[in-house]
Amino acid sequence: MKKLLIVITSALLFTGCQKSLTDSEMQEYRETGVKIAKETYQKLSSTLTEKMKAGGIPEALQYCNTAALPLTQEMSEKYKVQIKRTALRTRNESNSPDDEELEILNYYQTRAEKNKELKALVQLDQKGNPHFYAPIILQKKCLSCHGSLDQEVSRKTDSIIKSYYPNDMALGFQENELRGIWSITFPVKN
Ligand code: HEC
Repeated sequence: MKKLLIVITSALLFTGCQKSLTDSEMQEYRETGVKIAKETYQKLSSTLTEKMKAGGIPEALQYCNTAALPLTQEMSEKYKVQIKRTALRTRNESNSPDDEELEILNYYQTRAEKNKELKALVQLDQKGNPHFYAPIILQKKCLSCHGSLDQEVSRKTDSIIKSYYPNDMALGFQENELRGIWSITFPVKN
């Protein structure tokens, strides 16, 4: 009897989790996710460029240190979602991946290593929220802070980085490499 109950409960739980998104919902979340990620990227990137011009890498680093998370938070509130940037090798530990993000990161990393296309994904997460993921690819202009030490990244830059982030793991990237992902959680629709 007890066994039967367990079977029934797990069957119920399982079907509960199986609630899936329709194709049009997937499409809608994908489009909104792309839009939010683009807008957040543009905001981060345009101020970063300004700071680089005004005060070089030290000022740009200080900007990233103090403004990256609040800006992401501001955009989350604007769109009533939860926006996160995460990576297998993070700079800021507050951006560390959770279990599901780790799975997605490993999925993209494996595809990247096989030179396969990295597309944005939409799926229901463990809590049942629609969740958008998209790869973040490293560009040339990112190398001054994420490239290799003594090549694109000077010792001086590295010492400033390490003063903010003693556990920094986000050096040694190359152009066009997978740097991380956007992870955007949407609220459940009632
Ligand atoms: C001026 C130096 C600088 C430049 C240039 C820069 N970054 Fe960063 N990056 C940082 C800092 C500092 C952080 C930590 C910010 C935080 O607290 O979230 C960071 C964090 C990140 C993160 C979040 C995950 C993590 O490691 O904590 C991603 C993703 C990222 N950068 C990608 C990029 C990309 C892509 C570019 C180029 C378009 C770029 N960065 C250019 C300094 C820089």
